[in-house]
Amino acid sequence: MNESTHNAPDALAQQTRQTALGGRDIEEHLPALCRQAAAEGAVLLKNERGALPLAPEQPVAVFGRVQNDYFYVGYGSGGDVKTPYTVSLMQGLREAGAAVDEPLAAQYAAWCADNPPDMGDWGTWPLHFDEMPIADDEIRRAAARCGTALVVLGRAAGESRDNALAKGSYYLTDDERALLGRVRGAFARMVVLVNAGNLIDLGWTQGEDAPDAVVYVWQGGMESGRAVADVLYGRVSPCGKLPDTAARRYEDYPSAGHFLGKEYNEYVEDIFVGYRYFETFAPQAVLFPFGFGLSYTTFALSDASAQLCDGQVRVQVRVTNTGACAGKEVVQVYCAPPQGALGKPARHLAAFEKTQLLAPGEMQELTLSFPLEAVASYDDTGASGHRFAWVLEAGEYGVFVGTDVRSAAQCGCVRLESLRLVRQLQEACAPSPAHPFERLVCRAGAHGLEAQREPVPVAQHARKQRVLDNLPAPISPTGERGLLLGDVAAGRCRLEDFVAQLSPEDLIVLSHGDRVMDSPLGTKGNAGVLGGVTERLRAMGVPAVTATDGPSGIRLQYYASLLPCGTALAAGWNVPLVRRLAEAHGREMTMKGSDILLAPGMNIHRDPLCGRNFEYFSEDPLLTGRMGAAIVGGIQSNGVSACPKHFACNNQETNRSGNDSRVSERALREIYLRGFEICVREAKPQNIMTSYNQINGVWSHYNYDLCTTILRGEWGYTGCVMTDWWMRPCRDPDFPALSDSAYRIRAQVDVLMPGGKNFAGDIDFSALHSYYQPGGITLGELQRGACNVLRYLLASNALRRMDAAPGRP
Ligand code: BGC
Repeated sequence: MNESTHNAPDALAQQTRQTALGGRDIEEHLPALCRQAAAEGAVLLKNERGALPLAPEQPVAVFGRVQNDYFYVGYGSGGDVKTPYTVSLMQGLREAGAAVDEPLAAQYAAWCADNPPDMGDWGTWPLHFDEMPIADDEIRRAAARCGTALVVLGRAAGESRDNALAKGSYYLTDDERALLGRVRGAFARMVVLVNAGNLIDLGWTQGEDAPDAVVYVWQGGMESGRAVADVLYGRVSPCGKLPDTAARRYEDYPSAGHFLGKEYNEYVEDIFVGYRYFETFAPQAVLFPFGFGLSYTTFALSDASAQLCDGQVRVQVRVTNTGACAGKEVVQVYCAPPQGALGKPARHLAAFEKTQLLAPGEMQELTLSFPLEAVASYDDTGASGHRFAWVLEAGEYGVFVGTDVRSAAQCGCVRLESLRLVRQLQEACAPSPAHPFERLVCRAGAHGLEAQREPVPVAQHARKQRVLDNLPAPISPTGERGLLLGDVAAGRCRLEDFVAQLSPEDLIVLSHGDRVMDSPLGTKGNAGVLGGVTERLRAMGVPAVTATDGPSGIRLQYYASLLPCGTALAAGWNVPLVRRLAEAHGREMTMKGSDILLAPGMNIHRDPLCGRNFEYFSEDPLLTGRMGAAIVGGIQSNGVSACPKHFACNNQETNRSGNDSRVSERALREIYLRGFEICVREAKPQNIMTSYNQINGVWSHYNYDLCTTILRGEWGYTGCVMTDWWMRPCRDPDFPALSDSAYRIRAQVDVLMPGGKNFAGDIDFSALHSYYQPGGITLGELQRGACNVLRYLLASNALRRMDAAPGRP
C-alpha cells in the first residue's frame, strides 16, 4: 500500500457533481418539520399569573443580546453546518406580528452590530456572550411602554470543551442576574427564555423575584425564532418535557465530584443516573423532575389500567384535554421494580407516547406496551444467583402512569412469583482489577431505601482466550475472477466469493478511509470517505462513500438545513415527528451528496456540564434509544446511512481521547449501552462510530468485548463499525504482534477514519506489518472486517450510483 494506491477521482465527474450541489436549495419539508420539532421541544417550566401565551397586540420589551445573537446549535462537528438561513428570536417575533418595543429592539440591534461576540476557535468557543449594558432608566422607560418583559438568556457549548461550573456557563453571570432583578422590579410581567443546549442552574426560577414564566427553548436550529414565537403566542401550546432532571444545585447530581477528571472518571453513581438517583435517594433535591413540562391547557389522565399479556405489560389510559385550548400531552409509563438482591432504581421509564393534538374536551385512549424484560436488571455480582445475566427478580413490579416521573400514579402491578432468567450472557467490559472503586447500591433498610456503597465487581475473564476461541476461519483466496460487488447485489455470487478475490492489501485498504478529511473522492467539505478509496477497488465495483457530520445538519461546503439539537428533539418526546424529520433529512443527504450522516449522537447525559450534551438526547436510555432509532430509521429509509455515535461512554470532552470511563458492567448495560442496544435492535444502523475514550482501560476503538462480544455477539449487529476521527496508537496487550489498526481490526472496528495515521494523512501501515508477522492479524479477520464494510455498501445507494457510472466514486 502506498501513496499511488489513492488516486484522485475523475476530475470532470467530480466537478459536475459538486456544481449540482451549490445553491441554497434544501429539502422542501425540512423547514416546517424543524420548526415543529423545535416548538414541540420547548419546555414550559413555569407559568404564573397567566403570563403566557402572549397576545400579538400586547406590547413586549425584549431584553438580552441573544434576541439577535441567538444560539441555534452548539459548536464543533455537531453544529458546524452551512445553514442557508437562520431565524433569530427577534425575526421570529416580528414575523408573528408581536408588538415588540421598538426603541429597545433598536438599541439592542445597534449594540449587537457594534459588538459582535468573539467566537474563539476550535475548543475555545465562548460559553456565553457578554450582555449589553443597560441603564435603569432605560429599563424603566421600556416598562412604561410595555407591561411585559421577555428576557432571553443564552448559553453555548461545544465539542472539545466542557461547560464550567462557573458564572457564564452553568450559572448566570452577575450581569444576567442583575438584568433579571432590574427587569423584574420594573415590569408587571416577566417571561424568561433559556436558549441553551445543556441544562444550566435554574435556582433563579424560584423565590419572590422569580420570573412569572420560564420556557427552556434549547437550540432549535435554523427555524428557532419562528418556533419560539409559535410557543410564546400560542400557535403551539407547549408540549415539551424535560429529558433530564433539573436538580436544585449542581452538587446534587450524583456524578458531581466524579466528572472532569483528566485521566479517568469513576462512575460511582452506577445505574443511578438522573431521575434513577433522585427518585430513589434524593427527591427533595429536584427542582423540575424528569419528564416535566407544562402546557397552556390542562389534561386529565383517567381509567388507567395495566395488564400482563404474553410477556408484554399493556397500559391503557384515557387522556382528556380539560382546558381551554388545543394541545398535546406526553404520557409516560414508569416501572418500580422490586428491590430484590440487586437493588433497583425507584422508577424506570418503560414506555411513552405523545398524544395527537387534542381540542378542548377531546380525549384519546392510548395503549402503551413494553415487554417486562425491558425492565430487567443486569447482575454483575451473582447476588441474584445468575451472574452476568439479565434477570427479573421475584416480587412486585409497580406500573405508574403520568406526565412526569414524580407525579406518575400507580395504575397496576405485575407480580413475579419467582426470579426469571431473561438472558445468560458472559462478562464483558468489566472494570479492571487494577482500578477498583466503590459504587452506589440501593438496599431496602428499616427506614426505606438506603444508599450504600459496595466494591465494583472487577474483570475476571481472559480476553486473550476469548479472541483465540473465536478467530474467524479464512475464506480461501481465489485470486481475481472478475466478480464485481454488483454481482453480489444481483445475487450472481456470494459476498464470500467476492471477498475471496481480494488480496490482504486490498482488505487493508478497505479498512481505512481515504486518509484525510475533505477527501477529494467525496463531496466537498466531507468528514471523510471510505469504501472504494483506490482505483483498483472501484474497478471491482466498490463505491467510495462520503461521510458527513451530523447530528444537526449535513456538514459540507454546501448549504444544508440546520436542525434542532438532539436535546431539543428528545424534549419533544415525539417519536413519529422525529422519524419524519429524519426521513426528510435523509432526502437532503441524497440531494447534497452525503452517504453517511455521522449521527445521531447517543451518549447519555451523565452530567449537565458535558460539552456535547446538546448533541445527545437525554439522561434516560429508553428516550435516547427511541430517538436514535427514529433518526436511523428515517435516514436509512432513503438508501443512505446513519452512524450512531459515540459508542460508548463519551460523557465528557476534557481529555476525551485519553480519558478512561471506569464503569461497572451493570451500569454499562443498563444505562450507557442500552440506548445503543435499543437503536441497533430496532433500526439496524448500517454504520456505528466508536468513541475516543477508554472504557475500563481499553479504548473503544480497540475494545473487543464492546464491538464484538456485545455489539455483534449479543445484539446481532452485522454492519460496519468505524473509529471516531483518528485513534490512539497502542500495542495489543495480549498479542504483541498487533498494534494500532491490527489491534482495531481484531476488535471488529472495521474502518479507521478518516484513514491516515494523523491529521496530515500519513499512511497507517500497522495492519500490513502485523499481517506479515508470526502471530499477527489473520486473513480471516481482515476478510471479516471487509465483509462488514461491504455489507453496508451493498445496502447503500452508492452501489447503484456506481452501477450507473462504473469506476467512479
Ligand atoms: C467528533 C465526531 C465527528 C468527527 C468527524 C470528531 O472530532 O468526535 O463526532 O463525527 O470528528 O468530524
